[in-house]
Amino acid sequence: MTRHFLRDDDLTAEEQTLVLQRALELKAAPFSRRPLEGPRTVSVVFDKPTLRTQVSFAGAISQLGGLPLVVDGNLAQIGTRESIADVARVLGPQSAAIVWRTHGQDRIEEMARYAGVPVVNALTDEFHPCQILADLLTVLEHKGSLKGLTLAYVGDGANNMAHSYLLGCALAGMHVRIGTPPSHQPDAAILARAQEIAAEQGGSATVHADAAQAVAGADAVVTDTWVSMGMEEQKGDRQGADSPFVPYAVTEELMAGADADALFLHCLPAYRGFEVVSAVIDGPQSVVWDEAENRLHAQKALLSFLLEGPA
Ligand code: NVA
Repeated sequence: MTRHFLRDDDLTAEEQTLVLQRALELKAAPFSRRPLEGPRTVSVVFDKPTLRTQVSFAGAISQLGGLPLVVDGNLAQIGTRESIADVARVLGPQSAAIVWRTHGQDRIEEMARYAGVPVVNALTDEFHPCQILADLLTVLEHKGSLKGLTLAYVGDGANNMAHSYLLGCALAGMHVRIGTPPSHQPDAAILARAQEIAAEQGGSATVHADAAQAVAGADAVVTDTWVSMGMEEQKGDRQGADSPFVPYAVTEELMAGADADALFLHCLPAYRGFEVVSAVIDGPQSVVWDEAENRLHAQKALLSFLLEGPA
């Protein structure tokens, strides 16, 4: 059966652990697995801007022995010039896997239905699961384990990062807290699914209107831009002085309420002075550059798992 990674819970808890373990192994021995030897092509398609994702997937695919083929989704006009199903039927037979950054989750689900090869979500409006693998890898490296740790995400609780933290951290057996205004609550079905997974894995998933309460004693504090890709016309409202997110900015004061050894993470790009102040993101608790590099290692492990399986 072709395995896809369209959302965080497409991996079981055991499989997530295996992928993170494999990422550590590949980080230590970068050329030890070559499932794409040939080279076989992996199509990496972008309908939205990218820096880290393009570089890290290109590196990951190359190091696994393959050829990363970056496709400009806006040139291809997927779903407009031709249907997603037809694009899948063209890319699938010529690709060992398809990696896609796009808009709605329905688009990547349709790609997966018709591609016949593994499809990987490189960010949709709803989820960013590859980023969460990199974040979990980063916390694991710095803290030694994940189970029982608390991760607090503050900011836009309705965006792709919030949703993926809910599912991904719950799978890892962590306590995940979302600090967000009542106007930007996570999707109810995703929150319920995270709570269900958390109950199985010994963690929890909660939403807090009070940022300080969300962050209190946390082992990791994370945030994300208040203006996700595709929301550019809302920039004034989301970053203005009256933005509902202002109380959720990661300041030194907010950070002081977390555990004294708390890590700070941010998927980047970061907007200093909005969702995080320079003193935090450029300060001693910040691990954002490790986190950015870990995209490479986590995605290599994920591709290896999808192509080679657990062994
Ligand atoms: N929420 C952000 C994440 C960027 C990596 C966005 O969708 O733009």
